[in-house]
Amino acid sequence: MIIKIDGKECTAQKGEYLLNVARRNGIEIPTLCHSDALPGIGSCRICIVEVVEKGRSRIVTSCIFPVMGEIEVLTNSKKIRDMRKTLLMLYLARVPENETIKKLAKEYGAKVPQRFSVDKSEDCILCGLCVKACESLGSSAISTVNRGVTKKVSTPYDEPSKECIGCGSCAFVCPTNAIRIEEKNGIRTIWNKDFELVRCKKCGEYFATKEQIEYINKKKDFNLEDEMLCDKCKKKKAGERLKDVFEDYKE
Ligand code: SF4
Ligand code: FES
Repeated sequence: MIIKIDGKECTAQKGEYLLNVARRNGIEIPTLCHSDALPGIGSCRICIVEVVEKGRSRIVTSCIFPVMGEIEVLTNSKKIRDMRKTLLMLYLARVPENETIKKLAKEYGAKVPQRFSVDKSEDCILCGLCVKACESLGSSAISTVNRGVTKKVSTPYDEPSKECIGCGSCAFVCPTNAIRIEEKNGIRTIWNKDFELVRCKKCGEYFATKEQIEYINKKKDFNLEDEMLCDKCKKKKAGERLKDVFEDYKE
C-alpha cells in the first residue's frame, strides 16, 4: 500500500511499523529506545508523529505503530516539535549533562528546567532497552529497581550478578551511554563484576569474556570453533569461505 509521509509517497507492507517505513524512504525520525534488533519497546516517546486518517489527526508512537491502511503522516509538524521539546525538557531534568540528550534538546530548543535540582552524573533515561537486550539473551541479569526518583537499572541489590556473563550487550544498545564498561589488563568490569577476557584464536585480540564463551558453548546451534574468533576475524573467515565457494563454482 502507499502512504504519505511529509508529502512523500512511500510503499508500506500491512502491519509494518511506521518508523521502518519512514527510514526506508529516507525520512529521519528521532529515536532513543528503538533498536532494529529489539523493536517494540515504545517507552521514550521521542519518535512520536502525527497521523491523519479519514480527516482526523492523532499522535502515535511511530516505532510501535503498525501501518494498517492509507494514512498521511507528519513527522515534524509544529505540534510534534513542541511535544518533543517538552519531552526533552523532562529528559534534561533527569540527565542534564548527557551528550545525546543535549544534542537533541538543542535541535528542539529545549532547556534544562530551573525548578528541579538535578544529579549531573546521571545518564540513564530509564528507557528499558538494556533490560530487554539482557532478557533476549536469556540472562536477565539486570532490571529496573526502586520507584519514583530512586528508580534505576541495576543487578539485584547492586551486587555482582551470577547471571551476568559480561557480554556488554546492555552497554552496546544503550542510547545514552549510561552503562559503564571498562577493560584493563585482560579484565572487563561491568555491573560491579570483573570478567576475565579471552583472546581471538586468530589475531590474539581480547574479544569476549570466559563466561560468554561458556554460555555460547552450551548452545548447540553455535560452532565453538567460529565463536573463538573476534568479529573482524569472523568476517575475514566468512569472506574466505565465500571465495572458496566462488572458486569451486567457477571450476
Ligand atoms: S541504561 Fe541505557 S538502555 Fe538502560 S534504561 Fe538506562 S538509558 Fe536505557
Ligand atoms: S523510539 Fe519510539 S518510543 Fe522510543
